[in-house]
Amino acid sequence: MSQVKSDALVFYGATGDLAFKKIFPALHMMVKRGNLNCPIIGVARGDFDLEKLRARAKESIQKHGQFEEESYGKFCSLLAFVGGDYTETETFSRIREALGNAEHPTHYLAIPPALFPKIIAQLDQSGCASGARVIVEKPFGSDLESAKALNKILLGKFEEGDIYRIDHYLGKRPVNNIVFFRFVNSLLEPVWNNKHIESIQITMAEDFGIQGRGAFYDVTGAVRDVIQNHLFQVLCNLTMEPPKGLDSESIRDEKVKVLKAIKPLQAADVICGQYEGYLGEKAVEADSKTETFAAMKLQIDSPRWKGVPLYIRAGKNLPVTSTEIMVKFRHLPSAYSSIANQPNHIRFRISPDVTVAFGMLIMAPGEDMASVLSEIQGNPTPFPNEKEAYERVLTDAMAGDPTHFARKDYVEEAWKIVDDYLALDRKVYPYEIGTWGPENVNQHVQPSGGWNNPIVHKTK
Ligand code: BG6
Repeated sequence: MSQVKSDALVFYGATGDLAFKKIFPALHMMVKRGNLNCPIIGVARGDFDLEKLRARAKESIQKHGQFEEESYGKFCSLLAFVGGDYTETETFSRIREALGNAEHPTHYLAIPPALFPKIIAQLDQSGCASGARVIVEKPFGSDLESAKALNKILLGKFEEGDIYRIDHYLGKRPVNNIVFFRFVNSLLEPVWNNKHIESIQITMAEDFGIQGRGAFYDVTGAVRDVIQNHLFQVLCNLTMEPPKGLDSESIRDEKVKVLKAIKPLQAADVICGQYEGYLGEKAVEADSKTETFAAMKLQIDSPRWKGVPLYIRAGKNLPVTSTEIMVKFRHLPSAYSSIANQPNHIRFRISPDVTVAFGMLIMAPGEDMASVLSEIQGNPTPFPNEKEAYERVLTDAMAGDPTHFARKDYVEEAWKIVDDYLALDRKVYPYEIGTWGPENVNQHVQPSGGWNNPIVHKTK
């Protein structure tokens, strides 16, 4: 039923943390913009009712969204609540009833994947799955085997075209701008290859820790939390071949090809760290070896990218919060080689602000034949009405556009790469909070010319 507009949204996990921080504010904005005009049914276990859910939604929108009395009122008029155990048939009969005449409901599973098998079976038995699509939250599995098992469960009852695997990074416009920028600027394609590009770095730094999410994070770690999904998507946008068309499958086909061409990781290509004090976090094992920092070097075995190292780094409690990409160009031999002391680059900043910058050498001030690196920057004017990532992906899912969701083959290929990492005999090195990871990161996984550490000017 791809491309059909959904006529009801049922979201499971309505009283959870994600609903509070992201989903309510996103749904409220969708209502405000007129993009959500159908019943919204929150489902949760425990002692809740519609009034409490409305109150929680209000608090969430006030804290994390753009509260407005009128649109909140409209949101409340669409909101319904079904309480009950996810394993009980009764709960799903009530959901079926609440769906009324809806023919194409969307079921959004914002709950731990361990509950998926039971919920999917219940959706099927209760008739709630008929004509429906399903949105599933990350993490989509914890390795290749579990991801395959999840896919099998979902595909047992839904068509692939009706399964929307969320990666909210794909709802970020600057992440999608990478592909756009590459293919609308004719200047780039001739140099976007191993003849001209020396290396690519992707850094996702966060200046905060695990924020009370110990139970989730300690069994997940940095690689499964943000590299397997968010940063691999960024990597694909940077390196995929031009898609045949702008339709969802042409774009997703090219991304899968990139992941398939990534060479198996070797121990020397990875370094992991854990911030000091992590072991004292709530719900973290006393002897946990979970990485809160990881840096890795990947290689894509394709004619375009052979010989170009791709560095990915992500960590908690680093000096700043920023996601930034640095593409460095090779020096070309010429009479100016000794003066051209730094490579040209393109820098994409995804957050906290958005920038695309060209790093070029110009003549340094003074009388000497010396060069200095200068950036030509494009900083798009912030769009006041910009959609947040969650709003964008949920709007797409309700409209039946899967472009910005991970396909079955994509998640499995991404886990294959991570499985190689999980199989390595890894050491986890401690690092001080507020530093760029373990001290020896640079001896192990070191881009030539060093890591690009994003500079963020803090406004306080
Ligand atoms: C989530 C991770 O998927 O992404 C978090 O679970 C991380 O650990 C978050 O902090 C980052 O997202 P954003 O949009 O704030 O960069």
